[in-house]
Amino acid sequence: MNYNIAVIPGDGIGPEITIEARKVLDKIGEKYGHHFNYTEVLMGGISIDTYGVPLTEEALAAAKKSDSVLLGAVGGNVGQSDWYSLPPDLRPEAGLLAIRKGLGLFANIRPAVLFHQLKAACPLKDEIIGEGFDFVVIRELTGGLYFGERGTTTENGIRNSFDTLRYDENEIRRIAKRAFEVAMKRNKRVCSVDKANVLDSSRLWRQVVEETAEGYPYVELTHMLVDNCAMQLVRDPKQFDVILTENMFGDILSDEASMVTGSIGMLASASLGETKLGLYEPSHGSAPDIAGQNKANPIATILSAAMMLRYSFDLEEAADKIEGAVKTVLEKGYRTIDIMSEGKILVGTKKMGDSIVAEI
Ligand code: NAI
Ligand code: MG
Repeated sequence: MNYNIAVIPGDGIGPEITIEARKVLDKIGEKYGHHFNYTEVLMGGISIDTYGVPLTEEALAAAKKSDSVLLGAVGGNVGQSDWYSLPPDLRPEAGLLAIRKGLGLFANIRPAVLFHQLKAACPLKDEIIGEGFDFVVIRELTGGLYFGERGTTTENGIRNSFDTLRYDENEIRRIAKRAFEVAMKRNKRVCSVDKANVLDSSRLWRQVVEETAEGYPYVELTHMLVDNCAMQLVRDPKQFDVILTENMFGDILSDEASMVTGSIGMLASASLGETKLGLYEPSHGSAPDIAGQNKANPIATILSAAMMLRYSFDLEEAADKIEGAVKTVLEKGYRTIDIMSEGKILVGTKKMGDSIVAEI
C-alpha cells in the first residue's frame, strides 16, 4: 500500500527526531511491502521566518490532503527568541492550535508507558512500579471549559469572571467511542473519569459513556472521580488500561501520567478526529537547549510513528514490530542522555534511530 504522510519537522530538535522516525517507517515499508511518501510542511518558528505566520493556508491544506501527519515539535527558547515578541496568535505554538483545530482533532491519546528497563528514571518506588506499567489517557480536546462561554465584568466595583463547562451528548459519545475502540486493541478496560458527584456536565458524561459501553460488551467500564484518579495515578498506576476524560481533567491528568514515567523523551501521542487522518507527535517540546547536537532521544517520535501505523493505517503488526524493537534496544542497554543511567551505553540521536532500524 501507498501512504502519504505530511511531515512537519518544526523547530529545535524537531528535524533531527522526525528524520529518525522516517528511517524507521522506511524500514517497515521495506519489510512489509508498503510505501510511505513524505511531504514536508513548514510550521512554527521556521514558518514564521519563511512566511511571517506559524501556519500558512497551503501548509494546512497539505496536511488535510495527507493520510496522516507526523510532527516533531515547534517553538524556540522562550526567553531569547524573537518569535516571542510577536503577538500570541503569530507565535510558533499558534501553529499547533491552528492545525489541531483545522483538522478537527477532538481526541488526544497519550500513552504512559514505563518500560521495566527504565525503572531508574521513574520517580515512583520499586514496589509500586513492579514490572512497569502501560496505560493510556484519552482526553477530549475540543470541548468543555476551554471552549465554553466566558467573560469578565465589573459590577458595583466588584470584578467577576466566569467560564462555562458545557458538553452535548454527541461530543461525549464520539470521544467515548474512541476510548472503547482503543481499549478493544488493548486490555479492554476503560476507566471514565469525571466529577459526577458535583457537576451536571459530568452526570451527562457518565450517562452517555454508559450508553456507549452497551456497544462494546467485551470492554469492562468503571468510573472514577477525578480527585481520586489524581491519587490513584501515583498510588497504583498499574491498575489502569484506558483512562477516558474531558478536556480540562485530561489536561491535568495526562501531564501527571507522563511524569510518573519520568522520561520525557519516551512519550508518544496521537490526536484524532472523525476520519483516519491523525496528528502524531512526541509529548515533549523542541528542546532548544540540545538542538543540533545529536543528543535528542528520538524514541517518543518513533513510537508516535508506530501509533500512526496502528490508528491511522490499521497496520497493527508493523506497529508492534516498532514497539518491540524499541524494547530490545533498551534491553541491550542503549540510552540517550535523557534516560542514561549507570552502566548503560550512551548513544546519540542517529545511533538510537539506527539501532531501532537494525532490530526491525
Ligand atoms: P521541552 O520538552 O522542549 O524540554 C524540556 C527539557 O527536556 C529540556 O531540558 C530538554 O532538553 C529535554 N528534552 C525534551 N525532549 C527531549 C528529547 N527528545 N530528548 C532529550 N531531552 C529532551 O520543553 P520546554 O523547554 O518547556 O519548551 C521548549 C520549547 O518547546 C518551547 O518553545 C515550548 O513552547 C515548545 N513546546 C512545544 C511543544 C510542541 O511542539 N508540541 C510542546 C511543549 C513545548
Ligand atoms: Mg497541559
